[in-house]
Amino acid sequence: MKRIGILTGGGDAPGLNAVIRAAVKTAIYEYGCEVLGIRDGYDGFIDEEGVVRLGIEDVRGLLPRGGTILGAANRGNPYARKVIRDGKEVTIDVSDEIINGIKRLEMDALLVLGGDGTLHIAHELFQKGAPVIGVPKTIDNDIGGTEVCFGFDTAVTTATEAIDRLHTTAEAHHRVMVLELMGRNAGFIALHAGVAGGTDVILIPEIPFKYESVIAKLRQRVERGYLFSIIAVSEGAKPLSGEQVFSRGGNEVYVPRLGGIGQMVGEHIEKEGFETRVTVLGHLQRGGTPTPFDRWLATRYGAAAVRLAARGGFDRMVALHAGEIVDIPLEEAIAAPKRVDVNSDAILTARGMGISFGDE
Ligand code: F6P
Repeated sequence: MKRIGILTGGGDAPGLNAVIRAAVKTAIYEYGCEVLGIRDGYDGFIDEEGVVRLGIEDVRGLLPRGGTILGAANRGNPYARKVIRDGKEVTIDVSDEIINGIKRLEMDALLVLGGDGTLHIAHELFQKGAPVIGVPKTIDNDIGGTEVCFGFDTAVTTATEAIDRLHTTAEAHHRVMVLELMGRNAGFIALHAGVAGGTDVILIPEIPFKYESVIAKLRQRVERGYLFSIIAVSEGAKPLSGEQVFSRGGNEVYVPRLGGIGQMVGEHIEKEGFETRVTVLGHLQRGGTPTPFDRWLATRYGAAAVRLAARGGFDRMVALHAGEIVDIPLEEAIAAPKRVDVNSDAILTARGMGISFGDE
């Protein structure tokens, strides 16, 4: 193995830089191998100056740094790239340019740090000959075949801190506080932060809720003398007799953007006589320094991805199983997105703690 590439695709997640650092150090120290960084996801193969050489000096101080030094591109799908031709915007397939780029740069492997979309593209590029290796990145924790994606722990930590802060002001004013959290169609962030922060209600996409049940829970708390309540709502949650709420529609380049369910829940509650405020935590969940767990996981993923490349384990993804880093076929990782198991001990525990999911 003489030269490897590394790119960060899709939205950013805390820990991307820690993976890059670990991969560069392992490649250079263990294998004497050169590392090329591809800027802005797959776009770097097409853009001029989209490829940079990464040495030990370039990764110094990266461990605690959020974001990604390589840049990320949410709309960087090489199979559907928007370009202007004859004054008109058209969508073209530039996947062959990626393959040519990998060959031209004489890369023996390409580490792809990404979520579902980026890893799907990586798997398709493998069919065309790209020596790809996946690393599971997303705060949503929704990639199949791995117990945890890096970035998730940091998002949960930030969300939990937000819940703690909402608690004190909610109690002071006898209010209901609704906190809308990210996660797309998976409720992991809301579930974990909701339990860790001791919320009274958790609404997640996997358990459609009824407004009557949520209101009943709030009334029960008042009857017991608790004049405030905290509700964690996953952005993908939806009422039993309703739809998910989007702030923007999708197209062939952008996925639809979830957002607004927190406000909707807040309005319903206020109509029932509870003074309510809504907070949308948004991209604070993605920004900033990774937690020690994410730094630890990202470092192990980055190093393991390079070792996998050296073994020629292409079209595979590093994953966490029972505390150990293993590797699984990319096909398995992208076959079905991971969702909260509604029969898991986590849900049972939350219910046992008196937390309502708005379904009973
Ligand atoms: O997948 C990560 C994520 O942060 C989701 O939780 C959220 O729905 C989405 O990305 C937001 O995307 P964008 O940064 O494009 O607004």
